[in-house]
Amino acid sequence: MNDDTAVTTATTQPGNALSVGASTLADRRGIYDILLHSGIFNQSDAECVDQMFSEAFAKSSDDNYRFISCRAGDQLVGFACYGREALTHGTWDLFWVCVSSSARRQGAGRALFAEVQRQAACAAECVRLIVIYTSSTDQYAPARRLYESMGFTRAAVVLEYYAENDDLFIYTQRLARKE
Ligand SMILES: CC(C)(COP(=O)(O)OP(=O)(O)OC[C@H]1O[C@@H](n2cnc3c(N)ncnc32)[C@H](O)[C@@H]1OP(=O)(O)O)[C@@H](O)C(=O)NCCC(=O)NCCS
Repeated sequence: MNDDTAVTTATTQPGNALSVGASTLADRRGIYDILLHSGIFNQSDAECVDQMFSEAFAKSSDDNYRFISCRAGDQLVGFACYGREALTHGTWDLFWVCVSSSARRQGAGRALFAEVQRQAACAAECVRLIVIYTSSTDQYAPARRLYESMGFTRAAVVLEYYAENDDLFIYTQRLARKE
């Protein structure tokens, strides 16, 4: 899976070197635990991602989910899951991103995003658009700030989509056309 994912490095603070690359099977439990202890997702969310992870490894294809992991040294500190949005031409969806609660605000989220953007820019297919669906609630404020800091803009709001007083925010980023 994700054989074309280069290992990229990002240094956010002196001595804090992060690396991002394709997830490996050994990351499965760690990803599950990061979600479970995220303070935001619950067990059924973790199981949903685990199922996606298992599908991604069972059949590696351009249509399947792609997982990347972020490490500080050899420790898994976060992951992202992204891939083609079904029934579109050139639209990718960033389905999940989560950083271990003890490793936040050290650049892992930014490093994961940068790698998804890099993958989209050099994909064989022409990726025109990256889309993210998220919630309007306070606990997702860090995520929204991250998306905005990475150049995403809020393209749509669906009022009370998730629940009362919990709107759906759709963020998008258009990618430059390949020559
Ligand atoms: C959102 C999340 C992935 C960010 O990861 P992170 O590694 O902490 O983010 P980074 O350190 O790379 O931060 C990058 C930028 O995002 C913004 N940001 C991140 N966390 C923030 C916070 N708590 N408050 C305000 N801005 C924040 C800032 O602009 C930050 O840049 P800066 O540190 O230079 O100010 C992390 O908070 C997380 O896992 N949250 C729980 C899961 C979640 O909400 N996932 C998204 C679901 S849709």
